[in-house]
Amino acid sequence: MHGRYALAEAYRLAGVDRNSAFLAPAYHCVTMLDPALALEGEVHLYPLRADLAPDPVALDKVLGTVRKPVKALLATHYFGIAQDFTTLRQWCAERDIVLIEDCSHVLFTEQFQASGTGSHGRFVVSSPYKFFACDDGGLLHSADARLLDGLATESAPLSDELRGLKRVLEGSRSPTLTTSDIASIDRQLVSLSAKPVVPGKDAITERSVPSSCYSAALTARASLRSSRFVVAHSPLNDNILRRRANYDRWVESLASVPNCHALFPVLPRDCAPYMFPLHIDHPDPHFYWLKHLGVPIWRWDEMADSGCPIAREYRLHLLHLPCHQALTEDQMTWMTTAVARTLQHVAGAVP
Ligand SMILES: Cc1ncc(COP(=O)(O)O)c(C=O)c1O
Repeated sequence: MHGRYALAEAYRLAGVDRNSAFLAPAYHCVTMLDPALALEGEVHLYPLRADLAPDPVALDKVLGTVRKPVKALLATHYFGIAQDFTTLRQWCAERDIVLIEDCSHVLFTEQFQASGTGSHGRFVVSSPYKFFACDDGGLLHSADARLLDGLATESAPLSDELRGLKRVLEGSRSPTLTTSDIASIDRQLVSLSAKPVVPGKDAITERSVPSSCYSAALTARASLRSSRFVVAHSPLNDNILRRRANYDRWVESLASVPNCHALFPVLPRDCAPYMFPLHIDHPDPHFYWLKHLGVPIWRWDEMADSGCPIAREYRLHLLHLPCHQALTEDQMTWMTTAVARTLQHVAGAVP
């Protein structure tokens, strides 16, 4: 199972249902809202500041517009950077709203909890699989274990367990890159930029049910045994150091590159980054070119619409770039070079 199903249990335990409302951050991926929609809860989005911290003044305004009782608020530590939720916790407590702390981007496992995270929410949810070489793994935690009394999980079918084990034994299969791949980036960019950009279809659709990324039947499914084994036996310190080194490599490689800036240029001490968030000035054409070069980039362009200017801007401008511990030196060199060259590239330039 994944973190989204742990979120489903947290929302349910907090009392989210068809007669109540739920507050979620305006910058989100669909799997953060899916479980609330599955419970038929009314979802309201609260605005964030540029550093992705909740905006306390705006929260009161949002609350003032909600007619149904608000049962829960989800607060996220994005990209592994711990936010200080002390004030938010107080705000929720004063209004009898359950704070659910989203540690999906944080190294938060049964064995290890990143500093500054997991101590504010009545429920804490994480996705350990995002930090390890395994197929799944979501975690629901509460400092008050009695709150989780009565929750039971069912084991995955044997076929899923075997598939998970096979993947773990095979290891990750990532492409091998050579110096000629790096040397050909400029040529590829010239050829890409000579062609017109074919924009994706950007449309707003109404949806009151979960996305296809969510299956209510999996809510009680336990994580695979192989995943739990990998999480419990991976070299944590080494992984954290590698992730930090890859993150810093991104920061250094792009420091003097135009048309972009790192959202968090300095990693806090003790932080295990999940991804490197990069703000780009011109998603059109840069996002398009990067995708066509094959750079593994993500962005949350499928997002519920809100009045939050930051979420609206980041939807297309904020790229999530990998800093996983398993990335090789050549892969990092290729990716950082491809991003740097693309962001400096001007259509019609000759290499
Ligand atoms: C911030 C955040 N919270 C929660 C989730 C849900 O996590 P999972 O993929 O483990 O279901 C995601 C998914 O990527 C996420 O990015």
